[in-house]
Amino acid sequence: MRLIFLGDVVGRSGRDAVARDLPVLKQRYRPDLVVVNGENAAHGFGITEEIFLSFLAAGADVVTLGNHAFDQREALVFIERYPNLLRPVNWPRGCPGRGAALIETAAGQRVLVMQAMGRVMIEPMLDDPFPAVARELDACPLGRACDAVLIDFHAEASSEKMAFGHFCDGRASLVVGTHTHVPTADHQILPGGTAYLTDAGMCGDYNSVIGMDKAEPLQRFLNKLPVERMRPAEGAATLCGVAVETDDYTGLAVMIAPIRLGGRLSQAPVAAWEA
Ligand code: FE2
Repeated sequence: MRLIFLGDVVGRSGRDAVARDLPVLKQRYRPDLVVVNGENAAHGFGITEEIFLSFLAAGADVVTLGNHAFDQREALVFIERYPNLLRPVNWPRGCPGRGAALIETAAGQRVLVMQAMGRVMIEPMLDDPFPAVARELDACPLGRACDAVLIDFHAEASSEKMAFGHFCDGRASLVVGTHTHVPTADHQILPGGTAYLTDAGMCGDYNSVIGMDKAEPLQRFLNKLPVERMRPAEGAATLCGVAVETDDYTGLAVMIAPIRLGGRLSQAPVAAWEA
């Protein structure tokens, strides 16, 4: 099975890139499932229903969130209507929405998609993600109850992300980190067969400070005073993410490759999937 995951979409620049390039990616690579992290899509903070639906229209099957999940308060309500819109699974009980979903692909394969959030240098402090995710994995074992497992681990610390990747090794097809907005180059298949990448990077303008127009964050570092609201940078976005191929029998990964298209970063098409 072919899985594509795209990192945090930041503001209009990121949304435009998804609307323009995701249909092209799908045409070119024919993925069975596309997951997009959309937690920074609404002017950098959260997601609206209209934006969520625009991601589906562009070809996303599932949208994940993160620490900014409910920055747009309407998300507290509309998340209940969409089983393919996921907030962290380790949000304390009572939180609207869900953190895991079993999605059926067009070919009839079942993919468990899940998001969890780390607890190192990130707010809010949610429940422990390790047992929360273990419970979900135990309830839907890879290769038996589902054909693939994709986990978006939304966290700041690379140490926590790597530990989490090893924790899931052999039980997930892909563990991909989000939240830092900077793509890492450590994509690999772990010894147990789980594809892993510390951070997918963002779909946003890299002439910025993690997607935000650089003037305000820079002056905050210099003067220690907020002057203006942060706003997303508006230059051309690089679409960043990861491509994974799984074994149809075991659900484990047989290939992982980064995706970087457009904008300022070096380009990375998926060579293994080029016809
Ligand atoms: Fe985040």
